[in-house]
Amino acid sequence: MSPNLENGWETLSPLSLDHQSTTPCDPNVLTAMEPYWSTDWGNASSKYNRPGIKAAAAVNLARERIASTLGVQTEQVIFTSGATEANNLALIGYARARALLNNNPGHLITLVTEHHSVLDPLRQLKKEGFRLTEIHPNSDGLVSTEQLEKAIEKDTFLVSIMLANNEIGVIQPISELSKICKEKGIILHTDAVQAFGHIPLNVNELGVDLLSLSGHKIYGPKGIGALIMTKKLPITPLQWGGNQEQGIRPGTLPVPLIVGLAKATEIAMQDLQSRMQRLSDLRNHLLNGLSTNIPDLIINGSIDQRLPHNLNISIPSKRGNQLHRKLKRYISCSNGSACNNGAPSHVLMALGRTSKEAEASLRLSLGRSTTLEEIDRAIFLISETIKYCK
Ligand SMILES: Cc1ncc(COP(=O)(O)O)c(C=O)c1O
Repeated sequence: MSPNLENGWETLSPLSLDHQSTTPCDPNVLTAMEPYWSTDWGNASSKYNRPGIKAAAAVNLARERIASTLGVQTEQVIFTSGATEANNLALIGYARARALLNNNPGHLITLVTEHHSVLDPLRQLKKEGFRLTEIHPNSDGLVSTEQLEKAIEKDTFLVSIMLANNEIGVIQPISELSKICKEKGIILHTDAVQAFGHIPLNVNELGVDLLSLSGHKIYGPKGIGALIMTKKLPITPLQWGGNQEQGIRPGTLPVPLIVGLAKATEIAMQDLQSRMQRLSDLRNHLLNGLSTNIPDLIINGSIDQRLPHNLNISIPSKRGNQLHRKLKRYISCSNGSACNNGAPSHVLMALGRTSKEAEASLRLSLGRSTTLEEIDRAIFLISETIKYCK
């Protein structure tokens, strides 16, 4: 039976609490991009004609804005098609280039709770002869410096640990982990997709060598991201065919998308502190409301070291497939990352959840437009819906 929710909320279109999977493009981003689709359509590599010069100037300005936001140099920003590509380029590109130079693969370290765009390239490298350790974090989703130290072997050369998790929102102690990597001369990559534009982020303060980010999680366009390289590293490109992006990432630059990424970055920084406060207040209100109504609710991941706009809970007494089927009429949310293809979340399983608990989980991610009224609606809708689930 479906819930009979009498106050009219059920007739509204589903409430969006899935902003960690993607976000709508900000209207000011669309306006900034607009001329570069049609009137200013030059190729940024065509430096000897006027449209090309204009396009190159727009790319340069965008690169400067992004670099200064992150506290890096302009030449340290390599544009990619998104974070999947940035992660692949960082990990496969560096590992293969280094193995060629040293005539020896070597050892890699990551977290078992990483996004698949980190795990899969590293597992591919394993097939190519590299050794790979996947650290299991603590039950709160966090990895400690001791765990990293224990995993390091004498030929470890690359560690990849995400800044914030896409499912449970936990924020890893990257600046502490980077000190260990530095001491041992190990390159550290971080997937910062879920953190960039949502919490303060300075690449040098983090102490990482490589960092990936994406446009569409910060109200920018889909199809654009960047790899930040704070030092010159040998990188074997994933594709060949031009000298763009220092030859590391050849291909005609998508000028409108790059301009859009820079605009989205600028907007994301404008009210970062107040937005973080507002969203964490709303998220805490959501958690309090749900905990009051659902006695067996479990929070997945550390609640303190967490993105302000993320909540991930399991309701162990309910069946996940029923919960999601009934809830989707009212709320857009997720039971893991958007890329999991229905399997129980590898992140929740790594925290020690059973597959039933992992399936009966909700990732609720708030966005800039989320209001208190919507959060009250979500508390009501989730609490009522689970009464009709077994
Ligand atoms: C943590 C994390 N890394 C990487 C990605 C992939 O980013 P993109 O969609 O830009 O390829 C995502 C997207 O969901 C993500 O959440």
